[in-house]
Amino acid sequence: MSNYHIKHLEEYYQVYRKSVRNPELFWEEVAEEHFLWRKKWDNVLSWDFKKPEIKWFEGAKLNITENCIDRHLTTRANKTAILFEPNNPNEPAQHITYKQLHERVGKFANVLKSKGIGKGDRVCIYLPMIPELAVALLACARIGAIHSVVFAGFSATALSTRINDCDAKMVITSDGSYRGDKSIDLKGIVDDALKSCPGVQSVLVVNRTNRTIQMKDGRDVWLQPLLDEADTNCEPEIMDAEDPLFILYTSGSTGMPKGMMHSTAGYMVYTAYTFKNVFQYKEEDIYWCTADIGWITGHSYIVYGPLANGATTVMFEGVPSYPDFGRFWEVVEKHKVTQFYTAPTAIRALAKQGMEFIEKHDLSSLKVLGTVGEPINEEAWHWYNDNVGKKKSPIVDTWWQTETGGIMITPIPFATPTKPTYATLPFIGIQPALMDEQGNEIKGNQVDGRLCIKFPWPSIARTIWGNHQRYKDTYFSAFENMYFTGDGALRDEVGYYRITGRVDDVIIVSGHNLGTAPIEDAINEHPAVSESAIVGFPHDVKGFALYGYVTLKETGESRDHDNLRKEINQVITEHIGPIAKLDKIQFTSGLPKTRSGKIMRRILRKIACKETDNLGDTSTLLNPEVVQEIMDNAL
Ligand code: PRX
Repeated sequence: MSNYHIKHLEEYYQVYRKSVRNPELFWEEVAEEHFLWRKKWDNVLSWDFKKPEIKWFEGAKLNITENCIDRHLTTRANKTAILFEPNNPNEPAQHITYKQLHERVGKFANVLKSKGIGKGDRVCIYLPMIPELAVALLACARIGAIHSVVFAGFSATALSTRINDCDAKMVITSDGSYRGDKSIDLKGIVDDALKSCPGVQSVLVVNRTNRTIQMKDGRDVWLQPLLDEADTNCEPEIMDAEDPLFILYTSGSTGMPKGMMHSTAGYMVYTAYTFKNVFQYKEEDIYWCTADIGWITGHSYIVYGPLANGATTVMFEGVPSYPDFGRFWEVVEKHKVTQFYTAPTAIRALAKQGMEFIEKHDLSSLKVLGTVGEPINEEAWHWYNDNVGKKKSPIVDTWWQTETGGIMITPIPFATPTKPTYATLPFIGIQPALMDEQGNEIKGNQVDGRLCIKFPWPSIARTIWGNHQRYKDTYFSAFENMYFTGDGALRDEVGYYRITGRVDDVIIVSGHNLGTAPIEDAINEHPAVSESAIVGFPHDVKGFALYGYVTLKETGESRDHDNLRKEINQVITEHIGPIAKLDKIQFTSGLPKTRSGKIMRRILRKIACKETDNLGDTSTLLNPEVVQEIMDNAL
């Protein structure tokens, strides 16, 4: 029996039992057999969820890029590592082999060094989905620099906040980016952001769109001429198992975005192992994850997990609707994609289009379909299963988080029978628990509660950059000796899990995590606004959309409300990005508050969701009269 590659259900149960009975032994075997170490560990695991402190493979020495690139050179030098499909379907795809990737990463790493970047330095990467993005991550990892990728749809303010939070010395960006028929001035956004980032010493600029941009003397340099001069050979920096690999920001329900810090060895082992099993990757397969590398899905399942397995991973620059809604299927046919991993919001958007977009393409290469990022509703699940998978490709509904680094609850295709809307069973080594609000574990089946994890797994984030206390408060304080996910879940009669959604003030819009507090803070910057509260309401494509309740400093009819709505969304776009725009904005004379002054979001949520039959007790409110007003004017 191979612990590394699970092929049927019995094997899953056997390996699962082994992995929880003796996690140290289990992960040690996986690590030993399938990776390249410069030195083996002294200790597999030490952990304390109270502190909290988690260490995997302590004492081991390695470089993750040797595992993702160098070790494949003997057997896979000419195999495509990255298959780049550009935004414009008429621009040729690029097949970057492992050998070429090795050279490109070596050159890029030498350029970073020549600009004074070394081990432990933070490098912010703000790039579109072009090969340089993947190469930049790997180049940082090659020399032990810590990458912090910021999704290139975030605004200048959001970018500068993230740059300053981790004190990045360098930014890597491009002149512009293509998205469908749009060309975006990426460098202009960076220039704006850097007005408030004194710590940034240099900016490397990739030429993607040939647009005219400003280059600041002494700070900004074009990347290509430096690459042309650079040596292809760059010896890997030998890292400790627990050295930081990257920081990736995710929204919290309050305050600043949280810079989740992932370390090296455990992250590598877990993303590689999950990739192999969750997608049943075989040597000749062409795997495509449609996420952006700006999110954790792209880090773990476009770059590190696939490359650690010597896979061919597709990188797509464009959008599903350009040049038409058949683009995904055209790309699947063109490259004979075998595994396809996307988000429910994309599936719902495509399901709304005519079947002709899908019918004209040959999708017979597909073997496994995946979804991630938010709960998938039954209708979307069936549409995906019937029309894309033709009922023969299992759907893996993978539940996980930026914080978990890798997939946590998922079917294993061809082993676990799937069930629509269910993420099904915990992955190998994962020990979930459902908790009640009093902090007791709810045992047995046909129950629901708050989803926690009882035992560490190798790729759990180790801290929030610069704020360990917040890491403790957010994830380890709600339930004793447990990692709290922030999600609710139910367990059915056979032990399958279904994720029911966030139980905190994070709203998932089109698969993007959005904290309500930062959006409210942005709105409150508008001079006419006194207070605001954001809640989510169901939306047929986005899953959830945002509903804002806004009170104005001056009431009265003098302000044009439609104009104000536009201005408010403009402020949000500037502070966060267009992904956080509100679908509905209701102006109200007040917000329902408890006597201690806390906004009662529960009530606002119910009104936005049109569930006003049972609002619960409102008599204890400070201002119960406002509830009726809000209900009367609900949008
Ligand atoms: O609420 C869960 C939801 O997305 C959250 C994590 O978001 P993020 O850190 O951005 O990572 C997304 C990609 C891994 C979770 O707390 N979520 C993610 N996957 C699923 C999901 N909800 C239901 N089903 C899923 N498969």
